[in-house]
Amino acid sequence: MLPSAKKFLEITNNTSPDIAVILGSGLTNFFEEKDIQELISYEQLADFPQPTVKGHAGKLVLGKINTLNVVCMYGRSHIYEGHNPQSLASPIRVLKDIGCKLLIVTNAAGSLDEAMPAGSLMAIKDHINWSGFNPLIGPNAEEYGPRFHDMSDGYHKFYRDQLIQVAKKIDQKIYEGIYCMYSGPNFETPAEINALKVIGGNAVGMSTVPEVLVANHCGLPVIGISVITNLAAGMNKTKLSHQETLENASLAENNVLNLIKQFIQEVQFDDTSRDN
Ligand code: HPA
Repeated sequence: MLPSAKKFLEITNNTSPDIAVILGSGLTNFFEEKDIQELISYEQLADFPQPTVKGHAGKLVLGKINTLNVVCMYGRSHIYEGHNPQSLASPIRVLKDIGCKLLIVTNAAGSLDEAMPAGSLMAIKDHINWSGFNPLIGPNAEEYGPRFHDMSDGYHKFYRDQLIQVAKKIDQKIYEGIYCMYSGPNFETPAEINALKVIGGNAVGMSTVPEVLVANHCGLPVIGISVITNLAAGMNKTKLSHQETLENASLAENNVLNLIKQFIQEVQFDDTSRDN
């Protein structure tokens, strides 16, 4: 068990969360104040790299959604900040260590499809790791998973289908598609966007893939939702900016958080999944 997991359990009187959520750029407020049980700054957690980017607060918050204990990462770190890719594995392993049974990741992303404009939500069906990095390169952490792990159901269909059902029920339109990870920090060039369209991508962003790889490695099921904040480079005349990402993510914040909370209230867990 990683030191930050021990610390979390100490601080929370051994509360094992059922579900973990990671908030992407521009999503700032998951819990209502009254539902928060504990708020722990990443500075107190040695295994959590410090985010340096605007829109990523850097705290781990434990709260209640209905009857379930949920832990939420308010902000994440990215490879483009200069963090060692391997260091992005630790927070996910901490979530596994403290007992989470499902991880819900969110991100801000550019759309590769005019029919999926800014403000849309996309359930991630699969990804293309176009970043050139992988947090699992290096000696294998055998206690978490095998050297070569399967990624054929990386965004677990069992849970993704439930998410789509819940979206239907609450009338929240949601697309399904392939998320491509680019390293950043610059936005992609129009030529790169054309290439991503050809190889089958639907959205592009600079996060999520490292976390999803590590979660799959340690047997922690994942679903992912992209908040589309813009059409990708070259698809319209405007220039891309982080400010636009933050503003448009915040416009979609209510929709994505409502959907996640509704999902959490209705989710059926898969008791047959691997547990190491
Ligand atoms: N590209 C990469 N990352 C992003 C984008 C984009 O167009 N929009 C929000 N995050």
